[in-house]
Amino acid sequence: MSGIYLDNNATTEILPEVRQAMLPFLESAFGNPNSIYELGVQARAAIERSRHQVAQALGVGASEITFTGSGTEADNQALLGVAFANLTGRKKIVISALEHSAVKETAKWLGKFGFSTVEVPFVAEQGRVSLAPFSQAIDEETLLVSVMAAHNETGILFPLPEIAQHCKKVGALLHSDAIQAFGKIAFSPEQIGLDMVSISAHKCHGPKGVGALWVRRGLKLEALVHGGPQENQRRAGTENVAGIVGFGAAAALANPEKYKTVSDLRDRFEAELLARFGKRVMINFQDFARLPQTSSVQFVGMDGNILLIKLDRAGVFASSGSACHSRSLSVSKSLLAMGLTEKEARGSVRFSLSPANSTGDIDQTLQILVRLLT
Ligand SMILES: Cc1ncc(COP(=O)(O)O)c(C=O)c1O
Repeated sequence: MSGIYLDNNATTEILPEVRQAMLPFLESAFGNPNSIYELGVQARAAIERSRHQVAQALGVGASEITFTGSGTEADNQALLGVAFANLTGRKKIVISALEHSAVKETAKWLGKFGFSTVEVPFVAEQGRVSLAPFSQAIDEETLLVSVMAAHNETGILFPLPEIAQHCKKVGALLHSDAIQAFGKIAFSPEQIGLDMVSISAHKCHGPKGVGALWVRRGLKLEALVHGGPQENQRRAGTENVAGIVGFGAAAALANPEKYKTVSDLRDRFEAELLARFGKRVMINFQDFARLPQTSSVQFVGMDGNILLIKLDRAGVFASSGSACHSRSLSVSKSLLAMGLTEKEARGSVRFSLSPANSTGDIDQTLQILVRLLT
């Protein structure tokens, strides 16, 4: 790829080792994993190896991992699976106001089946997300809570262990969309006290079109796709063997340690921006505990989308919001929900880094920004 890629929260480049692991399953090892002869057995073994690799990266049991067709599908499976398994019980779902549309729209759709959704507003408290609105919303009527581990646009982290404690007290289940956090920060679903976790391969240098849902052992979920017995009867259909193998390889290589240098690079980028542009830039939520790779920068009084187009022409790729919505030029609903004015949200650009970025990338981006803004 030519240019400087700073949009790793949208998607990441497949690592050479991941591609290498996938290739045989796109070529000679093309067997159906459900066939009983050698070619099938080979494909089945590869899927199970990947399940172990993904499970190991999460520190959970392999039998608790269900592969899905995307992170979006993992979120759908979590919410719909729990709701349809509990049609006669509690009917309240609680989500944070910053959830990705994969969670928000699914929760909203469950309204057709008698479920009601409460969106917990974002409240900041001394550089972190306040627990209080969550404690208020989650009660004995709550069936399921879904709160992301980290926000895709700003990188801020949610207080999951505290939310989990509260859920336990009232008997509510807790799902977390950890699609941006997985592989970037230490993340242990069992230690946190979660019941379900969604992850996605293409956000951690694996292929697109494959995700996974971790479900705590013993938790009953209805299937989303019906037919054959694949994926523990949760997702019928012949498996995406190459994609799953790629996910396994990416998970085996995922290491939050690699993100220490990414966080240094991000901090340097932000410090240089402030030094060069002074009050003309603001770093959104800079004082919060954040993902190491994410920087949400507000260019005061500017239209972020116009800046993005100029950056694109200069060979720097970033984005203005979540990837699913950045093709439309509407203003980020998340940033508005976080208290930014429409003007502030419109001027915000997300830069998201990866271990592939160098100091040179950052220096060049800064030079380009200076040229574009002066
Ligand atoms: C927080 C979050 N959840 C869900 C998704 C959707 O994942 P996928 O693209 O694998 O469907 C994304 C992707 O942008 C995301 O950032």
